[in-house]
Amino acid sequence: ERIDLRGYHVLPGLIDAHVHFRDPGLEYKEDFRTGSMAAAHGGFSTVIDMPNTLPPTDTASEFKRKIQIGERKSIVDFGLHAGYSDPSEVEGILRLDPASFKVFMDSLTLDKVDVLFRRLRDLGSMVPITLHCENREIIMHYCENIGGVEDPYAYSMARPPLAEEVSIAEATALAYHYRHPVHICHLSTGRALRLIEPFREYVTCEVTPHHLLLDSGYLRRFGNLAKTNPPLRSAGSGLSVGDLPDIDIIGTDHAPHTLPEKKRGVWEAPPGIPNLEVVLRVLLTLVSEGRMNISTIRRMLAEGPARIFGLGSKGFIREGMDADFTVVDLRREGEIRADEFYSRAHYTPFEGFRYRGDAVMTIVRGAVVMDDGEVLEGRGRYIACHNQKEHD
Ligand code: DOR
Ligand code: ZN
Ligand code: ZN
Ligand code: ZN
Repeated sequence: ERIDLRGYHVLPGLIDAHVHFRDPGLEYKEDFRTGSMAAAHGGFSTVIDMPNTLPPTDTASEFKRKIQIGERKSIVDFGLHAGYSDPSEVEGILRLDPASFKVFMDSLTLDKVDVLFRRLRDLGSMVPITLHCENREIIMHYCENIGGVEDPYAYSMARPPLAEEVSIAEATALAYHYRHPVHICHLSTGRALRLIEPFREYVTCEVTPHHLLLDSGYLRRFGNLAKTNPPLRSAGSGLSVGDLPDIDIIGTDHAPHTLPEKKRGVWEAPPGIPNLEVVLRVLLTLVSEGRMNISTIRRMLAEGPARIFGLGSKGFIREGMDADFTVVDLRREGEIRADEFYSRAHYTPFEGFRYRGDAVMTIVRGAVVMDDGEVLEGRGRYIACHNQKEHD
C-alpha cells in the first residue's frame, strides 16, 4: 500500500498527556473507544489518561484493569497517570510504569502529598508527580460570598488566580525540597508562570488550548459549556500565545461530560471541555496566521510530553522510534462543529471557530487509524513509561 503525502506536512505522532476517557465507570460521558477515536480524529497517536475514573486508578489492581480496558478498546497508544490515596499501593503501581502520580494539591492535602514525595524518594523513583493546583481554603472563602449566585462569572470568581498561585508556590517548594520532578498541569495565569521560573530544574508545566486562547468573556457566550477548572481567566491575568516559549507542553485536558449535565445550574454543572478534536486545528490556524511556528506544535505536543513522561520510542521522528506520524494539510479550511466530533461530548466553546490547517492522517506504529477525517479500526497498546533517571 502506497501513501501519497505530496503537499502535506509530516509531524511526529502527536501526544496528548492529559485526557479523561472516563473508563471505567463513567462510560456514558466517554469511553476508551470513543475517546481514542476522538484522539485519532484530532491527529493524536498517543494519549495519557487521567485517574479520576470510577473507581479511581489509585491501586495496582485498578491500574492493571485500566491497562486491559485500554488494550481492548483503544485505537491509539496510551499511557496512564496513576491516582494516589494509599502509600502502600505506590510500589505496586510503580511496577506497572505509570506516566506520573496525579494529585489534586492544595493546603488541605499538603501532608498527604508530602507522604507521596517521601515514598517515591524511599523507593528511589523519579516518576513525576502531576499536580492540579488550586487552594481549597481560598476557594471556600470566596464561595461564602458568591456561592449560589447564578452567573457563570461568579463561579470563576470563586476560583481566583490567587487560589492557583498559592497552590503552585507550595508545589514548587515541595519539588525543590525533594529534588523531585513535578509537572503542573493546566497552568492558567501569567503570575503562576513567573512563580515557577526559579524552580525549572524540577518543575515543568502545561497549558490547555482554552486557557491559552479563550478568556472569561466566553462564559457569557457559552455558559457552562465553557465551565472548567481552573476557570477561564480575565484577559489581564491569563496566558496568551506570547507565553508559549516559557511553557513545556500543551495538554488538552479533554474532559467530556453530557449536554444534560452541562445544562444544570452554574454550580451543579460539572467542569470540563472536550478538546481532542479542536486543538490541532486551532494551533495550525495560529501557524497559518504567522503567530506561531509549526515547530512549537512538535515541541509542545510530541517531544515535550515524550520527554517529561518517559514515553520511550515516541515523540520524535528518528531512527529507532515508533512509526507514529501525524500528517497535516496546512491549507485545509473549515469551521469547528461539535456535532462532527467522534467524542461523546458534542459541545465546545470553540464552536464556529474558522480554522485553516487540519490533520488529514494519523498513523500509529505504521498503521493508518485516521484517513482524511475518517477514523478507521486500530489496536492501541499500553505504553510503559520509563523515566531515564529511575532505572534501566
Ligand atoms: O475542568 C476540569 N474537569 N478540571 C478537572 O480538574 C477535572 C476535569 C474532569 O475530570 O472533568
Ligand atoms: Zn520501569
Ligand atoms: Zn486538573
Ligand atoms: Zn484534567
